[in-house]
Amino acid sequence: MTTAAIIGGGVIGGGWAARFLLNGWNVRVFDPDPEADAKLAPVLAQARRALPSLTDVALPPEGVLTFHSDMAEAVSGVDWIQESVPERLEIKHAVLASVQAHCPPDAIIGSSTSGFKPSELQQGAARPGQIMVCHPFNPVYLMPLIEVVPSPQTDLALVEKAEGILRTLGHFPLRVRKEIDAHIADRFLEAVWREALWLVKDGVATTEEIDEAIRMGFGIRWAQMGLFDTYRTAGGEAGMRHFMAQFGPALKWPWTKLMDVPEFTDELVDLIAGQSDAQSGHMSISQMLAARDDNLVGMMRALKANNWGAGAVINAHEAALREGTVLGAHAGDLEDVSAPILTVRRAVPLDWTDYNGHMNEARYLQAFGDATDRFMALIGCDAEYIATGGSYFTAETHIRHVDEALAGATIEVRTQVLAGAGKKLHLFHEMFEGDRLLATGEHFLLHVSLETRRPSEPSPAIVAALDRIAAAHADLPTPEGAGRAVGQRP
Ligand SMILES: NC(=O)c1ccc[n+]([C@@H]2O[C@H](COP(=O)([O-])OP(=O)(O)OC[C@H]3O[C@@H](n4cnc5c(N)ncnc54)[C@H](O)[C@@H]3O)[C@@H](O)[C@H]2O)c1
Repeated sequence: MTTAAIIGGGVIGGGWAARFLLNGWNVRVFDPDPEADAKLAPVLAQARRALPSLTDVALPPEGVLTFHSDMAEAVSGVDWIQESVPERLEIKHAVLASVQAHCPPDAIIGSSTSGFKPSELQQGAARPGQIMVCHPFNPVYLMPLIEVVPSPQTDLALVEKAEGILRTLGHFPLRVRKEIDAHIADRFLEAVWREALWLVKDGVATTEEIDEAIRMGFGIRWAQMGLFDTYRTAGGEAGMRHFMAQFGPALKWPWTKLMDVPEFTDELVDLIAGQSDAQSGHMSISQMLAARDDNLVGMMRALKANNWGAGAVINAHEAALREGTVLGAHAGDLEDVSAPILTVRRAVPLDWTDYNGHMNEARYLQAFGDATDRFMALIGCDAEYIATGGSYFTAETHIRHVDEALAGATIEVRTQVLAGAGKKLHLFHEMFEGDRLLATGEHFLLHVSLETRRPSEPSPAIVAALDRIAAAHADLPTPEGAGRAVGQRP
């Protein structure tokens, strides 16, 4: 079992702890604050609600979380140390020295620092090669980006290892090729922040108007295409060159005040804090955090459907989660197919629940549809086969809703073949949360030619894979509820 030590369990350390823990790592938290476990609890609760929503495959079982006040105990034998202590260089130096006195020499030491360069962190270190910046974004358990910044002294093999591990956690490691104060992303954020402070100070816009200008417009655009691709598309067919020719000269106009920083007077702080209270004081911070997570999950799941940007990262994580499990297997890989086959194992995502707080009936169909798709892939009717012109089409569906499921619950679907010969495929799915039966779904499908749109024989490979499972399932008892018509009760 892999273990991470989280040094400093505040906003950022807590997010890291949740990301590791929910991806099956054991986590040891070192923080001198006696309230460290109480501080982490709400972050962990938020992460448990939101992170499993991203993928359509369940995350591995959670690791074990422990709290430590002894550094040797916290970092001995660990694979990863993530430093997230306050942003003061002397504190970071003292903490890194203490970490290196006790940790394995080949463990990864990542620093969450927003501003310091890795070479600054490495000053006076026993083994500078082990230290790199791994700069996350809040909430660490949802945001994919980690800016990975080595200095010329950092061991590049260790950097590559760190990037591989970050991918297994569902992160997107972005290697920063040249160390620089504040890395890449925070330099933008500072520019935007400065501009916003001026706009408020000069009475041009309120905090709310500035937020609307972002979230109603370029904020959504940036989330999916970034800056350069957005401008490329704005240039029309002629692309980036045209865009630059058209708008380049505007850069010389005296629009921004970026080089000046407005003075942080009490008056400015009062102005901004007052406007912010007027804007959002009616919501508690925990309400805002829940809304933030709901929105982030929804947006990233939309990108996932398009296999784009942050969504493509989720799909890659999901493919890795399937690998080596029955959820990624081909029927030929399975030695024993005599029991109903696991076709779905996932969390109920935040956007699957309705006004009653439980899974919406349409999502039961979605989960059973996913189970059928997975069964088709298992017998060889996968994307590659479908591209050759054959597929199964669903002709009939019957769902029985037996019990409720709430957001975050892990559901499993097991699939029994009631009949599978020639063009016909008759499946019976049972959905469980633990031992609790939530629903059954019965699907009758026909194999069709995608050219004629008429029923047709499946390929010999599919026939053989299906025959084997159908023969094995012929000995199973007919499940309770199979063949039931709507409204019939036992
Ligand atoms: N807040 C953000 O949005 C954000 C984003 C990315 C990176 N960061 C970086 O992450 C780091 C931590 O920031 P934060 O916002 O989580 O701060 P925070 O104040 O919320 O948390 C810091 C934690 O470190 C603990 N701590 C203090 N001294 C310590 C020591 N000697 N050993 C171990 N723990 C100690 C504190 O008790 C506290 O729990 C900073 O370097 C910051 O630049 C912050």
